[in-house]
Amino acid sequence: MQNTGVAEANEMLKVEGLSKIFNGHYALENIGFSVHRGEIVGLIGRSGAGKTTLLRCLNGAENLDSGHVLVEGKNLSVLKERELLALRQRIGLVFQGFNLLQSRTVAGNISLGLEILGVPKKERQQRIQELIHLVGLEGHETKYPSQLSGGQKQRVGIARALAGHPALLLCDEATSALDPEATTSILALLETINKELGVTIILITHEMDVIRRLAHRVLVLDQGRIVEDISNELLNRGEAKHALTRSFISRENVEDMEAAGYASSGF
Ligand SMILES: Nc1ncnc2c1ncn2[C@@H]1O[C@H](COP(=O)(O)OP(=O)(O)OP(=O)(O)O)[C@@H](O)[C@H]1O
Ligand SMILES: [Mg+2]
Repeated sequence: MQNTGVAEANEMLKVEGLSKIFNGHYALENIGFSVHRGEIVGLIGRSGAGKTTLLRCLNGAENLDSGHVLVEGKNLSVLKERELLALRQRIGLVFQGFNLLQSRTVAGNISLGLEILGVPKKERQQRIQELIHLVGLEGHETKYPSQLSGGQKQRVGIARALAGHPALLLCDEATSALDPEATTSILALLETINKELGVTIILITHEMDVIRRLAHRVLVLDQGRIVEDISNELLNRGEAKHALTRSFISRENVEDMEAAGYASSGF
């Protein structure tokens, strides 16, 4: 998907001049990009590059040291607490480790997403059933997380993230703990969510293959900076400009590259 010539109204997210400092060091430095409604954007980079910190800045979980984040045109930094809470309901989060409550069933974990949003009890049951159907977990409602496969656990995590009908889904390594088969099924589910519900997705991954299969565009993060912002189409044509992006392509997995001894300063 091309990133030009789209009207402002179509903008889901805009980040300008964003910096975040931890202990005197820039975890993120002068980050700028925008994401259009319906786009799937991959975020790739080595461990410590700042991917999770960036995602946390996008949903208002971190205070910024400079710059701003606009979600659907609203500046997160100037919103009052109540408005920020309302805006954060427009954003769903999916985690690598699923973050499920072991003491709750599949339905109970999905219900949690609705309880947090303050959905009345009598409305929850129907929405839980819709979500179970959406993520393909019919028949598993009363199982506990320990009785589920990794892929099924992530389906619960995705259902919970979608509870409040978010416009934007932020996924932090959503498939990194899964085997290849489960990865494929979760990528297919995310694609369905994007195509059928129109949900904009930003996903962090270590795997170039995940980017190729799902993303329309990729941002490459290195030491807190975006070093490449490229469409999947150009990526597949071998037109990546930055050495780091090209290394990811040739090695397929960022961790393979780390294992091969590439140092951060080498780029
Ligand atoms: N709460 C925090 N306090 C201090 N430093 C932090 C904090 N959170 C992150 N950092 C630092 O910011 C940098 C970026 O961390 P971040 O977790 O965003 O990286 P990442 O790209 O998500 O890495 P990984 O691939 O390992 O998950 C790292 O140097 C990290 O140590
Ligand atoms: Mg991370």
